[in-house]
Amino acid sequence: MDNYMNELVYKLMDSRKLETEEYIYLIRYRDHDTEELLREHAVKVRKENYGNEVLIRGLIEVSNICKNDCLYCGIRKSNWRTERYRLSEKEILSAAETGYRLGFKTFVLQGGEDAWYTDERLEKLIRQLKKRYPDCAVTLSLGERGRESFERLRAAGADRYLLRHETADREHYRKLHPQEMSFEHRMECLMALKELGFQTGAGFMVGSPFQTTENLARDLKFLEEFQPEMCGIGPFIPHHDTPFSGYSAGSVELTCFLLSVIRIICPKVLLPATTALGTLDPEGREKGILSGANVVMPNLSPANVRGKYLLYDGKLATGAESAENLLNLKRRMEKIGYVVVEKK
Ligand code: 5AD
Repeated sequence: MDNYMNELVYKLMDSRKLETEEYIYLIRYRDHDTEELLREHAVKVRKENYGNEVLIRGLIEVSNICKNDCLYCGIRKSNWRTERYRLSEKEILSAAETGYRLGFKTFVLQGGEDAWYTDERLEKLIRQLKKRYPDCAVTLSLGERGRESFERLRAAGADRYLLRHETADREHYRKLHPQEMSFEHRMECLMALKELGFQTGAGFMVGSPFQTTENLARDLKFLEEFQPEMCGIGPFIPHHDTPFSGYSAGSVELTCFLLSVIRIICPKVLLPATTALGTLDPEGREKGILSGANVVMPNLSPANVRGKYLLYDGKLATGAESAENLLNLKRRMEKIGYVVVEKK
């Protein structure tokens, strides 16, 4: 580590922010010592805020029908090889019931941008979930919607909304998405969610096609300024039926480094060790937690649809990734000195 790197590491730890150019240097020229110093500090910050607790969220993948055509995503609308499904209200409530029995206190309804999920249907669903499980939080992850829609979902009782920004660079955003989608609208949605009082989640993929170190530095600058309550980051993993099938996957090591940096710039952020990280590396979840992450999101979707929500090749939905195997996940967390808790 050169003197300048050392200076940057301490500046980041002390002030929780860097200039964009400094983030670029940090990412580009980091070495093992840089990573270790920041990882140790991230774990310290994580412990100050969350002790050794790992929070769990039950992920219910409500639909893989999507009107969007994101170039990286396996459930993009032009992928006619994907067998489409949509859970009924009954199936969603039943998944939540299973989750509640298992000890989950947060349900994440995630899905493609499926027009069937009108405001009316979602309001009804959210109200029922909140009525049945008043001690639980409801998180939505259903893509972009209008401000009025977000407002209604919030009024119905939804607590959180996850909408990864995907990349904080307009030009990069255009390379990952079709013409009809815009960076501006994505950002407008995120701002609206925050204003409406949602605990709001941003996030991005690590190693997505065309991503530069400058792009990642911008992502960090964006997080520093936006201060999301949640942040999902995971390595890009190619899906065989997408235009990005020929690109290589992102790096586990860089993802973990960025998890540490994010923990430092957003000390209280809810930061998952994502499924993508667990998919790319059998010890990915542990590595994520040991880098400063504090959330895992096991899969609560009904067994018959699990294989169909395939955002990328090899996506895990069994083992420690599935809600039924909570015991397995608990043991794995205990092995590294952490404890899974039933908190929303
Ligand atoms: N690899 C990794 N993550 C992906 N996502 C979508 N496709 C992929 C992929 N091929 C992520 C996006 C999206 C989230 C639900 O999953 O960041 O926001």
